[in-house]
Amino acid sequence: MKERVLSERQTDGDLKSLISALEQVGAAEARVALVLGSGLGAFADDLGDAQASPFTDLPGMPRSAVPGHAGRIVIGTLPGSGAHDKPVKVLVQQGRVHLYEGWTPEEVTRSVRAYAALGIGCLVLTNAAGGLRRDWSVPTLMRIEDHINLQGVTALGPGERASGSPYGSQLATLLMEAAEESGVTLHSGVYAALTGPTYETPSEIRMLTKIGADAVGMSTAQEACAAHAAGLPVAAISCITNAAAGHSEGPLNHEEVVEAGRQIAADFSRLLANAVPRLAQQV
Ligand code: HPA
Repeated sequence: MKERVLSERQTDGDLKSLISALEQVGAAEARVALVLGSGLGAFADDLGDAQASPFTDLPGMPRSAVPGHAGRIVIGTLPGSGAHDKPVKVLVQQGRVHLYEGWTPEEVTRSVRAYAALGIGCLVLTNAAGGLRRDWSVPTLMRIEDHINLQGVTALGPGERASGSPYGSQLATLLMEAAEESGVTLHSGVYAALTGPTYETPSEIRMLTKIGADAVGMSTAQEACAAHAAGLPVAAISCITNAAAGHSEGPLNHEEVVEAGRQIAADFSRLLANAVPRLAQQV
């Protein structure tokens, strides 16, 4: 196992259990780890030599009860593409846990801390989000260039430091090149992370627009900060499944979000299949 410096937060017993459980299923061989959000899990279906471990088989891994989150970690091989033709070992986390389910920031970020400790080269976080830009049609994809954490908590413990945007510009460039080569529209913007689980009110959406957000969701910010503090480079993509409250007719519901995720799944998978071998070559 390649060691990164472990902070106090990274030495707790549950994290150690998770690290050793992941080592036993070969996670340390992965070059890239991906966390797939609501309705976006299909990317893992095309991996070669795939080995799936349900969260319940991994001691220390918190498990989600949200429909659309499969709750397993798949380790497998992605074929290379184009100029990046070497196959890449990847770890795909299908599903995540959220603060609104009652999990602590430490639990929400435990898996990404484990990926950092295992020496995995980079992390791609994905999520479903509401769109605040009236000039973007939905569903669509957005590279997260930065976030605004409105969740009222931080995952970082004493002694952990992070500054600047967690989303590195080098990985961002690779994502944009991959989007262009695969013919997928990829916007760039700022993700506002709220606690949920209620969708926003129209007034909250007006506020978020004023403070500079382009998309809104209920995840990702804690994981990005924890990974950044642990020295794990991060890229992130929001799948904008709906126009945010007040920008669309009628109330939002989780089933619509999952269905829109399915509609854009082909673009999303094509983008990842092109981007991941590029990312692997950089790390
Ligand atoms: N708001 C918050 N989270 C979301 C949304 C939304 O509109 N859509 C998908 N996740």
